[in-house]
Amino acid sequence: MLINKLKEERTLSKAEWTALIAGRNEELSAYLFQLAREERHRYYGHDVYVRGLIEFTNYCKNDCFYCGIRKSNRNANRYRLSEEEILSCCEAGYHLGFRTFVLQGGEDGFFTDEKLVHLISAIRSKYPDCAITLSIGERSYGSYKAFFDAGADRYLLRHETANACHYARLHPGNLRAKDRQKCLWDLKEIGYQVGTGFMVGSPYQTAENLAEDLLFIKELNPHMIGIGPFIPHHDTPFAEEKAGTLELTLFLLGLLRLMIPKVLLPATTALGTIDPKGRELGILAGANVVMPNLSPVGVRKDYSLYDNKICTGEEAAECRLCLEQRMQAIGYTIVTSRGDSLNE
Ligand code: SAM
Ligand code: FES
Repeated sequence: MLINKLKEERTLSKAEWTALIAGRNEELSAYLFQLAREERHRYYGHDVYVRGLIEFTNYCKNDCFYCGIRKSNRNANRYRLSEEEILSCCEAGYHLGFRTFVLQGGEDGFFTDEKLVHLISAIRSKYPDCAITLSIGERSYGSYKAFFDAGADRYLLRHETANACHYARLHPGNLRAKDRQKCLWDLKEIGYQVGTGFMVGSPYQTAENLAEDLLFIKELNPHMIGIGPFIPHHDTPFAEEKAGTLELTLFLLGLLRLMIPKVLLPATTALGTIDPKGRELGILAGANVVMPNLSPVGVRKDYSLYDNKICTGEEAAECRLCLEQRMQAIGYTIVTSRGDSLNE
């Protein structure tokens, strides 16, 4: 059975990955999730790590066809948080027990290297015991290095899809799969803990594309892998496309846990958006991280990547409590620690 082979060898050929994904069924999924949970418990027990997400700008110079904050969306209500506002999100988060801050935003030229270095240094000196994660898209090696030297330790950059033709159907011509992948190798070389990932069920995606994603991730061997269903946004060219499914996303979480047992795997907000129990089911399929929002409630709904995003009205403390209860209900515990990846 391919799942047993995956457990033994920690990878499969492209044809085998494709067959496993295309041939999945309920029984196979249940078996996969059981094996995935065993791996997860072996290394991370029943602990769930939390990351405080600060969505600090929704300005973006890119025009990705799927994304609600793409530059051509004239209906997006644009905002930027000031350094002061970002620091007060960190302060509130620190008191709630967060030891990782994730600064995420569109590719916004207003935030020059200089401004970001200043911001990162300020967070680093105030919170020496916290991890600083950046998720701000493609930048030069020199910029990544400057942020690292200022105190950033992790970087999230989903490769989106490893297949160049598929990539070209999701992005305008100035964005290329190879360039994005090069950024990931640069980040690794500099010494960041790196996260990559992709959307599940994005338009035109095939089982073979997913097989290529898994092979790319195996080769990159990242510390963290963020996957979530594609969800259409009404003001994008993909407004009428179908969303990715809960079922396939969970199956891929299980495969990723078996492929790289020590990786950090978030149950994402998008997963919680397509199903009210999505994040819990993600944890039960092998995930071990949740990323509640620390952004000020006033701007939450403006960081709208897709329709019906959850948790846009709740204060950070409410989200923290809600997730704690949700995790407890399925036998897991949210822990206050940096939660570094065991995958070296
Ligand atoms: N600008 C940074 C970057 O490019 O990595 C970070 C922000 S970007 C909006 C974060 C992620 O959101 C993307 O990597 C993409 O996978 C995801 N995303 C964007 N639009 C989405 C949609 N409609 N459904 C699900 N995920 C989406
Ligand atoms: Fe935000 Fe539940 S996680 S309200």
